Amino acid sequence: MNTVSAVIMAAGQGTRMKSAIPKVLHPVAGKPMVWYMAALARRVADSAVAIVIGHGAEQVREYLTQEESALSPFSVVEQVQQLGTGHAVQQARSVLVGDTQPVATQCLILNGDTPLLTEETIRALLDAHDSSQATVTILTTSLEHPQGYGRVVRGSESQVLSIVEDRDATELEKSIQEINVGTYVVNTRFLFESLDTLKPQNVQGEYYLTDIVGMAVSQGLRVSAFVTTDTNETIGINNREHLALAEREMRQRVCRVWMQNGVTVVDPSRTSIDADVTVGRDSVLYPDVRLEGRTVIGESCIVRSHTRITNSTVGNGVTIQDCCVINEADIEQDAMIGPFAHLRPKVTIRARAKVGNFVELKQVELGEGSKANHLSYLGNTEVGQSVNIGAGTITCNYDGYKKEKTIIEDEVFIGSDTQLIAPVRVGRGAMIAAGTTVTQDVPPEALGISRPVQLNKEGAAKRKRDSRHLKK
Ligand code: UD1
Ligand code: CA
Repeated sequence: MNTVSAVIMAAGQGTRMKSAIPKVLHPVAGKPMVWYMAALARRVADSAVAIVIGHGAEQVREYLTQEESALSPFSVVEQVQQLGTGHAVQQARSVLVGDTQPVATQCLILNGDTPLLTEETIRALLDAHDSSQATVTILTTSLEHPQGYGRVVRGSESQVLSIVEDRDATELEKSIQEINVGTYVVNTRFLFESLDTLKPQNVQGEYYLTDIVGMAVSQGLRVSAFVTTDTNETIGINNREHLALAEREMRQRVCRVWMQNGVTVVDPSRTSIDADVTVGRDSVLYPDVRLEGRTVIGESCIVRSHTRITNSTVGNGVTIQDCCVINEADIEQDAMIGPFAHLRPKVTIRARAKVGNFVELKQVELGEGSKANHLSYLGNTEVGQSVNIGAGTITCNYDGYKKEKTIIEDEVFIGSDTQLIAPVRVGRGAMIAAGTTVTQDVPPEALGISRPVQLNKEGAAKRKRDSRHLKK
C-alpha cells in the first residue's frame, strides 16, 4: 500500500514579482498562495507535510503559525540559500525520511505558486501514479503560449524522457507545448537518492528538481505523465500579470460555489468574494460588490453595487444599498444600510435599525429599530431602541486628548443639527430640540434645548434691500 507525504516549495524570492513581500504571501481571493498549497497538501497527504521556506522566512513562518490550527499538522523547514527546487526538496529530508526509512512510500511535491490546483486533479495524479506503478509521475498540460515553463520532452513512443527548462531549451524544445506544471509524485526513496547526486548544470546554476525525471529514465525506471486539460488550474504565479490571472480565475470559482448554494450573483465577472466569506441562500449580490476577509452574509440579503464589506457579520434579510464601506461591523436581521454609509470597526446595528445617507459610525451600538438616516457622525456611542437621530447629528467624542462616550437611551428623539459633547447621557424618552449643543446630561422625558431665542426684526430685510438698491 502506498502512503503519501507532501512537500511544498515556498522558499523562492519570486524576483519577477518585484515585491518586498515574499511571493507565497501574495494573496489570491484574500488568502496567501501558501495557504492554498498547504491546505491542499494536508487534504491529500496521509503522512507528514513539509513546507520549505527561505526568502522572507520570518514573515512566512509567522503567517503559518497564525494559521496553524486550520492547517496542522505540518512541519516548516528552512532553505537558507535558495539554490533551486531540487535543493529545496532536499531540505525536507529530516521530515520526510525518518532515521532509517521514509515516513511514506510516495512523496507529493508542490510548487508554492500554483494555488489554483484542485484536490480532484491531485487525487487523479496520485491514482495515475499508483496504477502505472511509476517511480515518478509528473502533472503536465498543453499551452498555446508555453513560454517560461519547463517543457516535457517525449521519445518516439511518446514516453517521457526529460523536462527542460525554458532558459536551457533549444529552439526545437521551445516549440514543445506540453509543460511541467510543477506538481510531482515521486517514490520517496528514489527522490532522496537522486537528489544526492543532482548537479547544477544549467544556465541558472541551480539544482533543478526537474532533473530527477531524466535521472529516473536513465536508470530504466518508469516515469509517467498525467495530462490535465484545465489550463487555468495550472497557472504558476511568477509575476503580477499571472497574479491577476489567478485572481480572476479564483474569484470566478468562488462565485460559482455560492451560486450553486443558492446565491444570486448578478454579474460574477464583477463580483469579488474572498475565499473565507460565506453567503446565505437567496441573497443577491449586485455588480461591483466586494466581500472581504471573514465576512458572513445571512440569507435573503441584498447588497447593492460598489459596496465593500470586510470582516463583518450581516444577519438575514439585511439590505445594504449602493456605495457603502463596512469594516468589522455586526449588522442584525432586517437592518437597512446606505446608500453611502461608512461603518467603521466595532459597530453593532441591531435588528430593523436604519443607517442612511452619508452617515459615519465608529464604535457604536444602534438599538433595535433606531434610525440615523442622514448626514451624521456617531462615535463611541450607545443608542437604545426606537431612537431617532436627526439629520446632521454629531457626537463630539474627542476632546483633543481622549475619546469619551455618549449614551442615548430608548425612545429618544434627537432633532436635526445637534451636537452632543461627550461624555453625556440623554435619558429615556427625552427630546433634543434641533440645533442644540448638548453639554450636560438630559433627564428622561425632558426636552433639551440650547439655542438663542429667535428675534424677528420687522421690515429689516426690505430696508437692507432698498438701501443696496439706492447705492447702485
Ligand atoms: C518551475 C519548474 C518548471 C515548471 C514551473 C511550473 C524547476 C527547475 N522548474 O519553474 O519546470 O514548468 O515551475 O510553474 O523546478 N523554490 C524554492 N527554493 C528555491 C527555488 C524555488 O523553494 O531555491 C520554490 C519557489 O518559491 C516556487 C517553486 O519553488 O514556489 C518554483 O520555483 P520558481 O522559481 O517559480 O520556478 P519556475 O521558474 O516557475
Ligand atoms: Ca513558478
